[in-house]
Amino acid sequence: MERTLVLLKPDAVQRGLIGSIIKRLEDRGLRIVAAKFMKVSQDLAEQHYAVHKGKSFYTGLIEYIIASPVLAMVWEGPAAIAAVRQTMGATRPTEASPGSVRHDYGLEVGRNLTHASDGPETAIQEVALWFSDNELVDWQRDFDRWVFETVDD
Ligand SMILES: Nc1ncnc2c1ncn2[C@@H]1O[C@H](COP(=O)(O)OP(=O)(O)OP(=O)(O)O)[C@@H](O)[C@H]1O
Ligand SMILES: [Mg+2]
Repeated sequence: MERTLVLLKPDAVQRGLIGSIIKRLEDRGLRIVAAKFMKVSQDLAEQHYAVHKGKSFYTGLIEYIIASPVLAMVWEGPAAIAAVRQTMGATRPTEASPGSVRHDYGLEVGRNLTHASDGPETAIQEVALWFSDNELVDWQRDFDRWVFETVDD
């Protein structure tokens, strides 16, 4: 079972797309582990996007993520990292597959609605950056065995 960090960025929140995007993750069978509606500090934004420091879009990216509240979440499931990135679609909405969030709701790379961890190591780092251990909820759903081939006890 993998866990991944998902951010519904300020444009998704401002445009009233929280419910629509969560619905896609729930419908897919992924299980929510944590959620926090919050304003992002400059410090957290810089830590989260440290890998992009120095790039041409960095300043705009920081301004974008701190401009308005975000919904930060953790989701889990088998291959959750790849599954969530597929549901969100390619970074550039014009390159994202039809049916993905970024294709269906977006046009520009600088307003691409969501963030999702891109690999196992970044997922672990990002979950720890945004959430403390006691905010992560271990739970089971009655239908888990009809979505997950192997269900943990
Ligand atoms: N050329 C660009 N111009 C403007 N913003 C960009 C550009 N490239 C990336 N970004 C922004 O920076 C974010 C991080 O870029 P990254 O390459 O990590 O894409 P990603 O992994 O698909 O997106 P995310 O990390 O947000 O899930 C993008 O989601 C987008 O908001
Ligand atoms: Mg990324």
